[in-house]
Amino acid sequence: MKRIFNHVDLTDRNSFHVKQSAATLVEFSSADDLADYFSSERPSKWYVLGAGNNILFTRDYDGVLISPCGREVSVIGDDGERVVVRVDAGADWDSLVEWSVKHDLWGLENLSLIPSSVGAAPVQNIGAYGAEAGDTIIAVEYFDVRSLAAVRLSNEECRFGYRDSIFKRELRGRAVITAVEFALSRKPRPNLGYGDVAREVEQRGGATLANIREAICSIRRHKLPDPAVTGNAGSFFKNPIVGRAVAERLLAEYPDMPVYPIAGSDRVKLAAGWLIDRCGLKGYRAERVGVHDRQALVLVNLGGATGGDVMALADMICRRVEERFGIRIEPEVNVI
Ligand code: EPU
Repeated sequence: MKRIFNHVDLTDRNSFHVKQSAATLVEFSSADDLADYFSSERPSKWYVLGAGNNILFTRDYDGVLISPCGREVSVIGDDGERVVVRVDAGADWDSLVEWSVKHDLWGLENLSLIPSSVGAAPVQNIGAYGAEAGDTIIAVEYFDVRSLAAVRLSNEECRFGYRDSIFKRELRGRAVITAVEFALSRKPRPNLGYGDVAREVEQRGGATLANIREAICSIRRHKLPDPAVTGNAGSFFKNPIVGRAVAERLLAEYPDMPVYPIAGSDRVKLAAGWLIDRCGLKGYRAERVGVHDRQALVLVNLGGATGGDVMALADMICRRVEERFGIRIEPEVNVI
């Protein structure tokens, strides 16, 4: 089923709640709908809009936004221990996590409460608390706008990295994700290594799926603003990846700076939130935008902000971080 809308107000279709519009928006539920649309229309400018949680519109969009609305979750494989689940791109991410926890399936629990659609999850390989979507994804199905064919990529072919995948690279502007397949486990696989997770889980009585989900939700609710109340797109910047020598130079001056090793690499990841915080910008407020007071990586719409207001703040933050630490931070959010 596909539906086409013209002159669409995007205020409630982007979690920053910036007031912009789109010339056209097409909702689809299957690859056939997309084949139908792209073979007859061939739009010169288009972009995929999922739930709008990782996007900043800096102006009205004069092309076609393509938005998935299929939400089906189906079990397509089960060998008693490993359960394969296929989920339509338009499904809500946290509803999927909730479903997996209710069905005693391990793998997604650390990614509780991430605002996202399922189709957007592989694009930037959403991650939190020591887990990434790419750890459980076994395949991604997409519609190729050039060849008008439905394609299925294996996990390896998706080339997942830190907030990165083939969909942000070679397939950018070419792929519309239609469904994602996950391999979940009936065997417990608690992953409690990140920050306060182990302590919060212990306080709830130990490492059950329900306790882990509750602990993660509680940590997130404490640190991150609810986009339904305060417009934001989660972390606005990516954590920068630098060479060891750069990290060491900074550590000599700031011994308490967090540094995260990257498996299989001699580079390390720094915490952009910490860098911004150290510039004294946590809780900073301009007229209509600000830096969240509990997590400096999150920029917030204080009410009535435009995409331009958010970008002006982001630019100022980048400048200050570069002046102080000599490090360039880059947006994680897609700026359109
Ligand atoms: N920190 C500060 N001040 C701040 C923010 C952070 O000092 O204002 C320090 C923290 O104390 C900690 C370190 O920086 O030592 C890292 O902070 P945190 O654990 O909050 O994680 P993060 O690196 O800021 C990343 C993800 C989040 C994810 C958390 C938890 C990115 C860009 N962000 O944030 O993902 O929830 O880890 O795993 O990788 C998102 O992508 O939208 C997102 C929220």
